Amino acid sequence: MFLEIHNLNKHFATKEGALVVLKDINMAIERGEFICAVGASGSGKSTLLRQIAGLDTPTTGEVRIDGKRVASPGSDRGMVFQHYTLYPWMNVQENTEFGLKLQGVPKKERREQASYYLNVVGLTKFARALPKELSGGMKQRVAIARALASEPDILLMDEPFGALDIHTKESMHEFMLDLWQRTNLTIFMITHDVEEAVFLSNRIYALGARPGTVRKEMVINLPNRSHTVKRHSIFHDYRDELMELLRRHGQEAVAAVA
Ligand SMILES: Nc1ncnc2c1ncn2[C@@H]1O[C@H](COP(=O)(O)OP(=O)(O)OP(=O)(O)O)[C@@H](O)[C@H]1O
Ligand SMILES: [Mg+2]
Repeated sequence: MFLEIHNLNKHFATKEGALVVLKDINMAIERGEFICAVGASGSGKSTLLRQIAGLDTPTTGEVRIDGKRVASPGSDRGMVFQHYTLYPWMNVQENTEFGLKLQGVPKKERREQASYYLNVVGLTKFARALPKELSGGMKQRVAIARALASEPDILLMDEPFGALDIHTKESMHEFMLDLWQRTNLTIFMITHDVEEAVFLSNRIYALGARPGTVRKEMVINLPNRSHTVKRHSIFHDYRDELMELLRRHGQEAVAAVA
């Protein structure tokens, strides 16, 4: 098993006492899978991703990659965040090289590596542009190129397309599926967009809120991954089942708080 999350619990200390954000999370992900974790706001999605990234440590339980316990960030994991995280004073090329620079990769090598991945995301022509000259979708493609430039084994994405309009989002979906097929990368993406999760992933973990727990694991088998599949009854069945699940557990969560 490539990525394992084993009996993970995460609590935060608050004035009212310990807040249980993630409870008994277990996940097992094979190399090359495209996984989406779907949940309502506050279900602990970002917290979960931070434990996998090694930006924070679980209260109990652990995350293992290739059998090794995750204790800190590492170049085996690339991160893409929801909010644009490009440095405004650096051009696209410099932004893409930045992680490699931090790792001490020599200039010529990091230039070549970054150029290669800018080509993968279709932004070679914009290498000298500043972030403010790019659209939202292009900025996220630079963020993806930057994450890929370190050649991670897994790409961790926290609602990367949440801020994009529907058409840009759809073209990013096609881009992600194409990237996944070409590279056989392992992708773990967080979203609250049920249709996005069904369209992109081969398996979904649906999370309930307060505390965040895995409510269901769903294997997605679509006849194809072109946008016309969204009109297919199989697509609707997956979507409706997930929506119902999230709605039900959302109501439970509200009741638990009241
Ligand atoms: N460092 C922290 N200290 C205290 N509470 C925290 C901390 N980080 C997160 N939380 C709480 O944990 C819960 C889950 O937060 P998290 O950001 O993981 O949710 P999310 O599912 O990513 O939500 P969204 O969809 O809105 O991004 C929230 O109630 C939040 O207030
Ligand atoms: Mg979040």
